[in-house]
Amino acid sequence: MERVRAGVIEHGSAEVLRKAGLGERMDRDGFVHEGVKLAFGGRLLRVDFKDLLDKHVVIYGQTQLQKDLYDAIENAEITLIDEADDLRLDDIEGESPGVTFTRRGQTHTLLCDYVAGCDGAHSVTRGHIPPSAGKSFERTYPFVWVGVLSETPPVSDEIIYANHETGFALCSMRNENLSRYYVQGSAEDQLDDWPDDRFWETLIQRLPDSVSDRLVTGPSIEKLVTPLRSWVSEPMRRGRLFLAGDAAHVVPPTGAKGLNLAISDVVYLAQAFADHYAKGSTESLDAYSDTALSRVWQAVRFSWWMTNMMHRFPGVSDDFDRRMQLTELEYLERSETARRSLAENYVGLPL
Ligand code: DHB
Repeated sequence: MERVRAGVIEHGSAEVLRKAGLGERMDRDGFVHEGVKLAFGGRLLRVDFKDLLDKHVVIYGQTQLQKDLYDAIENAEITLIDEADDLRLDDIEGESPGVTFTRRGQTHTLLCDYVAGCDGAHSVTRGHIPPSAGKSFERTYPFVWVGVLSETPPVSDEIIYANHETGFALCSMRNENLSRYYVQGSAEDQLDDWPDDRFWETLIQRLPDSVSDRLVTGPSIEKLVTPLRSWVSEPMRRGRLFLAGDAAHVVPPTGAKGLNLAISDVVYLAQAFADHYAKGSTESLDAYSDTALSRVWQAVRFSWWMTNMMHRFPGVSDDFDRRMQLTELEYLERSETARRSLAENYVGLPL
């Protein structure tokens, strides 16, 4: 199973990237989106970020951003060590923790002031924070997303999240001729269960006619099945090890918060290191875990709320749950205050 690599950069994340000198390609090749659409009951509701908050998000693929980061590392002549195996940390509670690894048959140790564990959902560094030192929180969702990339023009110039009685669907894009679509599948589904024909039929069924009438289908050039879960591991620090991003928390893809949370963690951590090396104080480093977690939980809540509002929960959803979903969506339709709340979270809470 693969992770969804969403392409939605929050307003504040885009600012961070620009300030770090990483915004050039994003601003040239990315797309500014001033709203998002929710489909339900055969209707489309637009939430207008610009009108409500004078903010936007930028659609720019996560793999593109990764490339920009690698280029920046290279240009700054920062040493990047890849192909490192058998990673181990030593003495993270001491003054000079060690990072030991083997590379091309040789063992190396780096002695550090601090270690930032930014090594993703399969983090090795996280293993150095024993479960007894903290607590983790998890919610798994009883379905998967099946995602397709196709060289077709996007059906809409904005992202559409669709709630249908048969399940969720999402229309997104990478550029004028590259579309990203997702549909909700069953928890046990594999790639083979979703040939292109079934995928397109399901997507069409779940979109309002006004949208599906315009859908251009084509062969998938990439297909993935991804599980959904919310997971947070507290605290994000032990001794001189600080965790950031997916190493410490995972959110379901609904709302596209994963990458943005990694960015906010790193902003807090970088500020704390800058403070420490400028003033010699450890105050910001000591506050890091709490500071980062407070924003993490906000995104965990938002992605959980969007997930609950938009998906069919097999076996659990009864008529009451279904009415609650539709009532929530109708409340968004009726209330500018409700739309503003969605917009505020979607474009990203302030750092
Ligand atoms: C995309 C993924 C998401 O999870 C989302 O909420 C919006 C867009 C994407 O891949 O484009």
